[in-house]
Amino acid sequence: MRKHIVAGNWKMNNGLIQTETLISELKQQEQTSDAEVMIAPSFTNLWHAFESTRQHDIEVVAQNMHFSDKGAYTGEVSAGMLKSLGIKTVILGHSERRAYYNETDESLAKKVDAALQNNMRIIFCFGEELSDRKSGNEETVVENQIKNALFHLEASAFKNIVLAYEPVWAIGTGETASPEQAQDMHAFIRKTLANNYGNDTAESVSILYGGSVKPNNAKEIFSKPDVDGGLIGGASLKAEDFYAIVNAF
Ligand code: 13P
Repeated sequence: MRKHIVAGNWKMNNGLIQTETLISELKQQEQTSDAEVMIAPSFTNLWHAFESTRQHDIEVVAQNMHFSDKGAYTGEVSAGMLKSLGIKTVILGHSERRAYYNETDESLAKKVDAALQNNMRIIFCFGEELSDRKSGNEETVVENQIKNALFHLEASAFKNIVLAYEPVWAIGTGETASPEQAQDMHAFIRKTLANNYGNDTAESVSILYGGSVKPNNAKEIFSKPDVDGGLIGGASLKAEDFYAIVNAF
């Protein structure tokens, strides 16, 4: 069975003190669902977050990494550095990375390879812009994003890959994809995987939805058969809201 996953992407929010506070609040929440829970603090707070969640069912993951092992890349962080802290999962390809830091399918393919070579799990993000959806190109855009960055991999690599469909027009806008729009796209993504890697692989990959998931809409979105969880931005910064979403399964 596919895993249910709810991951909080904190983006560039929370210094050390706020990280401590939010994590202690998260640890007080009761989990009633079977979802795997993850949080992605900024690089500077990963170690603290990792240490303080050790005894807890919360996995701390990174928001990004570089594709090289080491070298003259000022300001960057490698897979090996993340692993040296105990971090086992990294988010790659977030639309904000693509839009503001020129991440391309090609550079993401290299990051994907570097993460897998380091035995890390990847939450791979992709999604169309509003103009793509308006022109009816959303499936082509999404298919290309997935193919270009991932389809050079062997089927076995997909046991370490989680997909996260995040339509750009729904991120931080308060406008979410309808549960039907999410389901339609997730089913299309699974079909694309099946066409290239077969049904067993397609059925085993968790596909998360991201974009303005809140406590009041999570249940309906998560009720769709191809939606296996959520990647949560704004609502992951409040412990009660985040766990209301975690428990929406
Ligand atoms: P919001 O939940 O704030 O829309 O952000 C979604 C997101 O980008 C998660 O990676």
